[in-house]
Amino acid sequence: MLEANWTGTSTVPSRNLYPHQWSWDSAFIAIGLRHISPLRAQTELETLLAAQWADGRLPHIVFNPSVPLDAYFPSPDFWRSSTAGRAAGAPRTVQTSGIVQPPVHALAAWLVHRADPGLSRARGFLARLHPRLAAWHRYLLHRRDLGGAGLVSVVHPWEQGMDNSPCWDAPLARITPAPARSFRRADLDHGAPEDRPTDLDYGRYVRLAADYRDGGYRDGAAGEHGDGEFAVEDPAFNALLIASEYALARIAEELGAAGSARRERAERLTATLTERLWDAEAGLFRCRDLRGGDTLVPERSVSGLIPLLLPALPRDIVAALVRTLGGPHFSLGDRARLVPSYDLLGEAFDPHRYWRGPAWFNTSWLLERGLRAHGEGERADALREAVLDLADATGFAEYVDPYTGAACGATGFSWTAALALDLHHRRPAPRERQELDKSP
Ligand code: SER
Repeated sequence: MLEANWTGTSTVPSRNLYPHQWSWDSAFIAIGLRHISPLRAQTELETLLAAQWADGRLPHIVFNPSVPLDAYFPSPDFWRSSTAGRAAGAPRTVQTSGIVQPPVHALAAWLVHRADPGLSRARGFLARLHPRLAAWHRYLLHRRDLGGAGLVSVVHPWEQGMDNSPCWDAPLARITPAPARSFRRADLDHGAPEDRPTDLDYGRYVRLAADYRDGGYRDGAAGEHGDGEFAVEDPAFNALLIASEYALARIAEELGAAGSARRERAERLTATLTERLWDAEAGLFRCRDLRGGDTLVPERSVSGLIPLLLPALPRDIVAALVRTLGGPHFSLGDRARLVPSYDLLGEAFDPHRYWRGPAWFNTSWLLERGLRAHGEGERADALREAVLDLADATGFAEYVDPYTGAACGATGFSWTAALALDLHHRRPAPRERQELDKSP
C-alpha cells in the first residue's frame, strides 16, 4: 500500500481522494515507514518541511504540480499561496494551502530518528529539521494564541483535521456559506456522498478559507475580510502540540542543546489545557468556542480523549478518561470495535459520515499510546489487536463503522497502513505473546 502511494518524495494519503501531500498524514505515514525504510520516512518529513512558510506555518497541503487542477478541490488556484500568502512568507517554488494541521511532526521526527540513529546522524536529519520544527511550534504558540491564555486556536475545521465533527456545528452555523455554484467539489467523484460532509458544510468551509486567504492569511483579530470568525481551542490539537514539545526537548538534547525549558513548557501547557478545557462532570476535554461567547462546546468528541497521551496529566483525569473511553458514549471494548470519532449517544451521531461517528485508525493509535503510557497495558493490547484486525479486513480503509467495522471513505489509505505497520512492529515477539496468552 505504502509503495503504491509513494510519489518519489512523499506519500499521498490515497490515490484518488487525496492526490497531494497532507501535513498530519505525512507525520503518521513516516511513523510507519520508519520500520521498512528509515530513509523514506526521513524524506517524507523533509519534503513537507521544505514547504514551510517564513512565518513558521506548516501548510496542510503541499500540492503536486503534476496532478491536474480538477483532481482535488480546493486546488492551488483557490489558495493562491505564492501571491495571497506573500506577506506571510509562503514559498515561491511550491504551491500550498494556507491553513495548518495538527502538529504531530516533532513526535514523528523523533520516532523516525530512533528507528535508525546512525543513518539519521549521518544525514544530519535532526540538525536540519530542528530549526524548522522549532519555528513551527513558535508560530502556533505566538500567532495562534487567539484566546490569550496560552493554548493554540484553529481557524478552520480542516486545521483540526476532524473536518465535519459535530463540535464545529455551532461555531460553523455563524458562517455564511459560499454559494454552492461558486465551486465544484471533487471529493464526491471518489467518496460516497453519505460518507462525506454535506454541500452546506462545504459552502462554509469554502467561505472561511476564502476569507482567510483574502486577508493575506494574517492571524489575529476579526478584520474587514471576516478573518477571526471561527476560532476554537481544541483538545487534540493542543495535546499533539504538547506531545511534540516533549519530542522537541529530546531532539534538542540529542543535538547537544538543553531540553528542559521545552519540557517545563509542555508541563505548563498541560496544566493550561486542563484549566481551560477539562469537563470533570463529563469526564473528557471539550472544545472552547472563542467566538461563541468563549464557551465550551457541549459535544463529546474523540478529540476530548486524546490528551490521554500526556505524561503530566493528573491521575484522577487519567482515570476519568479511561472510564469515559469504556463507558456508554464511546464503548471501547464493548459495543465499539475501535474508538468512535463522536459520542455514540450524541444526537448528531452517524456511523458512516465523515467524523460524525465512524472510527479512524490514527485516533485509536494515539489512544493506544496513551493507554500504554499510563499503565493500561491490557486495554492497549486489545486496541492494538483491533486496529490490526480491522486494517487488514478493510483493505486499509480510511475509516470504519464503529459497530460493524465496515469500511467507509477511501480504501488504500496510507496512514491506516502505516500505523498498522507500526503497531505490528511493536507487538511482543511470538514467544512472549504465547507466555502472555497462558498467563491468567
Ligand atoms: N480533509 C479535507 C478534505 O476532505 C481537507 O484537508 O479534503
